[in-house]
Amino acid sequence: MPARILEPTPANVRDAARTLARGGIVGMPTETVYGLAGIAFDEHAVASIFAVKERPTFDPLIVHVSARGALSSGASVLSRLVDSGLADASPFAADARRTADRLLEAFWPGPFTLVLPRGRAVPDLVTSGLDTVAIRMPRHPVAQALIEEAGAPLAAPSANRYGRISPTRASDVVEELGDRIDIVLDGGACEVGVESTVVALSSSGEITLLRPGGVDAARIELVARRPLAYPTDRIHGPGAPAASPGMLEGHYAPSKRLVLLPGPVRRLDERRAREIADSAFAGRCEAALLVVFGDPVAAVRELEARTGLRVVESAVLSREGHLEEAARSLFATLRRLDGGNAGVLVAEPCPVAGGLGHAITDRLRRAAARPAR
Ligand code: TXA
Ligand code: MG
Repeated sequence: MPARILEPTPANVRDAARTLARGGIVGMPTETVYGLAGIAFDEHAVASIFAVKERPTFDPLIVHVSARGALSSGASVLSRLVDSGLADASPFAADARRTADRLLEAFWPGPFTLVLPRGRAVPDLVTSGLDTVAIRMPRHPVAQALIEEAGAPLAAPSANRYGRISPTRASDVVEELGDRIDIVLDGGACEVGVESTVVALSSSGEITLLRPGGVDAARIELVARRPLAYPTDRIHGPGAPAASPGMLEGHYAPSKRLVLLPGPVRRLDERRAREIADSAFAGRCEAALLVVFGDPVAAVRELEARTGLRVVESAVLSREGHLEEAARSLFATLRRLDGGNAGVLVAEPCPVAGGLGHAITDRLRRAAARPAR
């Protein structure tokens, strides 16, 4: 039976929380993407999250915490995470503690995940055995209501099957996991549309960007008052945890082949144009074109003229060039084109390099890295 999509009334949130309390898992809206939530301290629930998503257990989950009292109580947010057994600040120099506090005060609740030394209450399975844990305080009111009602932090990865396009509407969750879960709370279309920014903080206070996302890296540097390191595969510094195990190429992938252009269609040189036609099965199949900004019809004409491909469908993320709108529509648009008639998807990268532009191009690049299935 497909999952029921429930309006987030107080009664339905209580219902979902009861499912969680029994060790069940539910679809939960957040401001970034929909999550598949279970109680973080319940190993059985966490095991079902991995099973339902078909996610390998080496890829750890984010723990979502309540915002209640976060901003009003005198204690720092970091010390509350320590008190609740989620994080361990004892390896931290004073400078690292101050950096954590500044980051959490500035970006929580919101699309920001901090990787910290793991506290004793967090089961191995949540962190894939790492000595660090990723924690986020979502700002979506339904996510907050569910965490409150459950009375415990919730482990939640994005609610898609492993490696696939993240869901930004309740109906997407049903499309991904509908016969494997019972309940999806409907929080409407996600306001941010790409996942949280994931940052690791080392014991000496260094910060590393593990995943670009909803919070701009430049703002993080300003607040932390230090530069972000961009990892290759390891975080530098003493006691260094492994860099994000989930940042694999081939994530966010549609089922069709996706070709990411090196730049806008109008700047495609002849050699690249030929390569692109070739990668679209020697130009035999029809294409769909995704542009981030501007007029998709003009871009379709250019792409057809330069590659000889026949473009049967096109989409733009934000015609007027608004980054927020582009991020918000990215996954739903990819999902729509993936379900359409074209045999191959062609996408322009985001012309804006920073902030949400970084996240958009990152997701498109990973989606393009996976061969068609
Ligand atoms: O916006 C979001 O973060 C969404 C919503 C539902 O909150 N969640 C999400 O979860 O994107 P997921 O599981 O799809 O991605 C979590 C990322 C993965 O790349 C994972 O490897 C990384 O966070 N991660 C989790 N724990 C980590 C840790 N201890 N060290 C490094 N990376 C970690
Ligand atoms: Mg995910």
